[in-house]
Amino acid sequence: MFKVIHISDTHLRETDPGSRSGWHETTQAIRTTRPNLVIHTGDIVLDEPENARDHAFARDELSGLDVEWLAIPGNHDIGDGPPRGGPICEDLLQRFESNYGAAHWAKDIGDWRLVGINSMLFGLGSAREAEEWAWLGSTLRQAGRRPVALFMHKPPFVMAPDEAEQGSAAIPVEARARFWDVVTGSSVRVVACGHRHEYRVLHRDGVSVVWAPTTGDQLDERTAPVDSPVALSGVLEMIFYGETFMHRLIPFGVGRQSA
Ligand SMILES: [Fe+2]
Ligand SMILES: [Fe+2]
Repeated sequence: MFKVIHISDTHLRETDPGSRSGWHETTQAIRTTRPNLVIHTGDIVLDEPENARDHAFARDELSGLDVEWLAIPGNHDIGDGPPRGGPICEDLLQRFESNYGAAHWAKDIGDWRLVGINSMLFGLGSAREAEEWAWLGSTLRQAGRRPVALFMHKPPFVMAPDEAEQGSAAIPVEARARFWDVVTGSSVRVVACGHRHEYRVLHRDGVSVVWAPTTGDQLDERTAPVDSPVALSGVLEMIFYGETFMHRLIPFGVGRQSA
């Protein structure tokens, strides 16, 4: 059995009480559940990708965990892609890698392969994006029949890979169908992401898509078609057992009403 604690959207800043209290609960949950690995799916820092002080604080906090951890970037770490953002700057990506390690990675654990990708590159049309697609394709081919859990910041889609929605809730519309073709043409069984600050699970084409909530207090947005006013922060406990995958939400505090 291999246990992962999946965390996302910590939005850390040393002077921000909401993210600090959520981080405190996160470290408590990690201590209690004793995972083999912690995976952070991005939006590590509050809201300013260029803020070196926030990154230094977040890096020190992550480094203080007494367990191995891996991270991938979110829009608040390296800038946003289309349709909302400008180009993702090479220096922010390099800063991410010097603070948190490679922006994509693969790790074999038991029967499974865990893969983390930099989904912020999708839709940019850059050489970096082309490299990311090539790396993803070869990493999944090398997995063979080994089941894969794929980690990314933005969801691959909200409800369906062919949706035309232009908003920034998911990866850019021009990348969704291509990404899902890659996923369904491989042994990916789980796609785990963050970005929307809410916990959600959907199933499509034999793949489970799991959204981790934020660990912090930014709980005022809800993604259609869910309109429940109840929002929870927390972390996900993932268990890989043979070829079986299970997960559960470890919520922080009680359900809070959104504004
Ligand atoms: Fe976020
Ligand atoms: Fe995000």
